[in-house]
Amino acid sequence: MIQIQQAFQLQAFNTLHLQAVASHYVKVASVEALQEALDYASAQQLNVLILSGGSNILLPEYVHALIIHMDIQGIEVLAETDSHVSVHVGAGQNWHEFVLYSTAHHWFGLQNLALIPGLVGACPVQNIGAYGVEVGEFIEQVHVYDRELQQLTQLAAEQCHFSYRHSIFKEHPNRYVIVGVTFKLRKTPDLQLAYGDLRQAVGEEQTAENLQKQVIAIRQSKLPDPAEFPNVGSFFKNPLISQAQYQQLAQLYPNLPHYPQKNGAVKIAAGWLIDQAGWKGKRLGAVGMFARQALVLVNYESANLTDVQQTYRAVQAAVQQKFNIVLEPEPVLFNESGLIQSHVSV
Ligand code: EPU
Repeated sequence: MIQIQQAFQLQAFNTLHLQAVASHYVKVASVEALQEALDYASAQQLNVLILSGGSNILLPEYVHALIIHMDIQGIEVLAETDSHVSVHVGAGQNWHEFVLYSTAHHWFGLQNLALIPGLVGACPVQNIGAYGVEVGEFIEQVHVYDRELQQLTQLAAEQCHFSYRHSIFKEHPNRYVIVGVTFKLRKTPDLQLAYGDLRQAVGEEQTAENLQKQVIAIRQSKLPDPAEFPNVGSFFKNPLISQAQYQQLAQLYPNLPHYPQKNGAVKIAAGWLIDQAGWKGKRLGAVGMFARQALVLVNYESANLTDVQQTYRAVQAAVQQKFNIVLEPEPVLFNESGLIQSHVSV
């Protein structure tokens, strides 16, 4: 039996700490409860907003919809060979705790992704990535409830269209509810140390445990703890520009951090652009860009969505004026009917 709550305050359930009241809220700990909640929403003609860890969302002050908070737990080994293990994890498991669990079990691959806030069920949506690793590389299957076909099914990794901060779940935002993820992890370490100063930080002690420890240390040194400075991680994606545009910019800014892509485009560090545009550590009212990592937007006082939008639009405008690059926000924006909205760019 599910328990629907009304006029529910979501401030504690989004890491940006935006004040947001939902008309209807329910926490679901099983697939059956999820189905019951979806049935309730259709009977009441309510839109559905799937809430996971709340670490990548922007909410308006009032949402007329049924918020379904995913709380499906469980970690289960499905298959094991000499080289790999397949592990099924419920969507509601905490991501960082699962990474620690995998390392403790000598399952390798996810160590670079330690300390990313959020729950397992959200990790495929934006294909979370850090320090040279993207989660899609270690996903075997994503288990979903397909709202269009009204049935449980799974998508193999190849069907998920994983690329930088992108997946099929962004292409069809209202179709799939992720109920679990099966990871395929290695049983022998193959440490990914290509990112910046990671190799140096790891030093002689090239173990997965030490790699995980160093990733945690780097994140803690740069990124604000949401409990202290409410934030949603990187607020903008690193933009992709053409080789020609990069060449032009590089003449003016030879130090511009850039990462050539396989398809010929060039990825640029948005944090550097924001920094150079004068926004590192700068605030507009209650909202500003963090002083140790300009890519992270922080809610310093009790901001609402309008305050956040005023600041990030000012940042977009400053970057566009200086570099002629439009930064695209990374978090998912919901409207008052609980539907995903595109960000209006400058
Ligand atoms: N930079 C500056 N000033 C700043 C911030 C960055 O000059 O204020 C420069 C840095 O010196 C560096 C470059 O920009 O040369 C890149 O910075 P960093 O290595 O900190 O990484 P990022 O590109 O800003 C991305 C991800 C992070 C991830 C890190 C490490 C995106 C949008 N962000 O950030 O992901 O942890 O790389 O791999 O791709 C997240 O998505 O929430 C997130 C934290």
